[in-house]
Amino acid sequence: MHTIIEPFRIKMTEPLKITSRDDRVAALAAAHHNVFLLDAEDCCIDLLTDSGTGAMSTEQWAALMLGDESYAGSRSWKRFKASVTEITGMPHVLPTHQGRAAEAILAECVLNPGDIVPNNSHFDTTRANIEYRGAVALNLPCLEAFDTQAEAPFKGNMDVDALRACIAEHGADKIPFAMMTVTNNTGGGQPVSMANLREVKSVLAEHDIPFIIDACRYAENAYFVREREEGYSDRPLIQIAQEMFALADGATMSCKKDGLANIGGFLVCRNDAWAEQFRNLLILREGFPTYGGLAGRDLEAIAVGLREALDYDYQVYRHATVEYMVRRLTAIGVPMVRPAGGHAVFLDARQMLPAMEPLQYPGIGVVNALYVAGGVRAVELGSVMFGHFDDKGVEQPAPLELVRLAFPRRVYTQSHFDYLIEVIEQVWRERDAIPGHRITFQPSLLRHFPCHFELLK
Ligand SMILES: Cc1ncc(COP(=O)(O)O)c(C=O)c1O
Repeated sequence: MHTIIEPFRIKMTEPLKITSRDDRVAALAAAHHNVFLLDAEDCCIDLLTDSGTGAMSTEQWAALMLGDESYAGSRSWKRFKASVTEITGMPHVLPTHQGRAAEAILAECVLNPGDIVPNNSHFDTTRANIEYRGAVALNLPCLEAFDTQAEAPFKGNMDVDALRACIAEHGADKIPFAMMTVTNNTGGGQPVSMANLREVKSVLAEHDIPFIIDACRYAENAYFVREREEGYSDRPLIQIAQEMFALADGATMSCKKDGLANIGGFLVCRNDAWAEQFRNLLILREGFPTYGGLAGRDLEAIAVGLREALDYDYQVYRHATVEYMVRRLTAIGVPMVRPAGGHAVFLDARQMLPAMEPLQYPGIGVVNALYVAGGVRAVELGSVMFGHFDDKGVEQPAPLELVRLAFPRRVYTQSHFDYLIEVIEQVWRERDAIPGHRITFQPSLLRHFPCHFELLK
């Protein structure tokens, strides 16, 4: 059969509110033209994020009932730890309430002002946690990552020569650890090859620099390695994941992605001294080390979800969805990051609106047009999220202006995706009418969440 079906059936439904264009124009104006400030119920297809928005399986719902809510040493903790240890092979496991809490603990314990942390591309919370410590979050993506149209198989890779140059310039003492984000969310959900991970590891090992994986989408990355990298086509995904983690000294994880849970995260490492420091701060910030910031039932759901994410048929279906979208949108002519990434479709707003200045935020224009056209909520990954102010206080745009349509796991069906294609097609046809935006309110950190916009025409 050519049709790849959802490898599950639906047991419970959740209604979607169908709104009119006028309703959506009014809702967006009330939200200061920032989709983060909309009410979720006013979004028909909510693709703001794939984080924590997935549907749990029957096995996970059943596991919730096994939740042992004991303060210390619960059975749920043991099951959680067993799953995490099996997959990552790390001796020290610290549960956290989500990924950014793991990042915060790592950054607070290990970083000093002026330190440098290289990564293929930092996610926004990772960057913010590093910068909050006065350190520098340095992105070193491979060169193909800048060409949204290049059909390279592993555009999430790090530029290893740039890593070497960074170590030579700043010295290993200034680099308490380096990171790799798999898959590379900021760079279009593109995968990292095992060969690149190995090369990065070997450069870091030469200089005794610890290597940390941001593992949010470790299972999607493992699937890409199996499909695209020589020598892995017959390997179970769990073995590929284990090989990835074997290269690392630690990892931060948001279980809201490939943990297939609605909340949760963890920090793992091999270094005993680090683990001791992490645990002390974990108790202060999150909770006792056997529950972190989580209820026993959450630990149970994650213990099951981490393994379900490595199910090959589930990954085949998930990737087929993204590929289907990319194929259909390519036929229409919509510019996008190519090839298909793991968890989302990334529209190229700069190419969609070539005449618009980057600091008029073309990505925000496209995001808001998608909402007005069909109640679809997407997110800008461009100059609002990743722009910065230089030493003179002048705003500098981001290198790419992308719009991410992230797909919650096991939530939407084929007809939702066909509707989505229709909405995007309408926005593409009517793109000349999309206005620029100006920021009227912004905080100093993570401004994309609460900022306000006004329309420029
Ligand atoms: C690559 C990456 N790292 C870290 C995080 C932060 O995880 P959390 O939202 O659980 O704090 C995210 C969340 O989207 C992410 O995509």
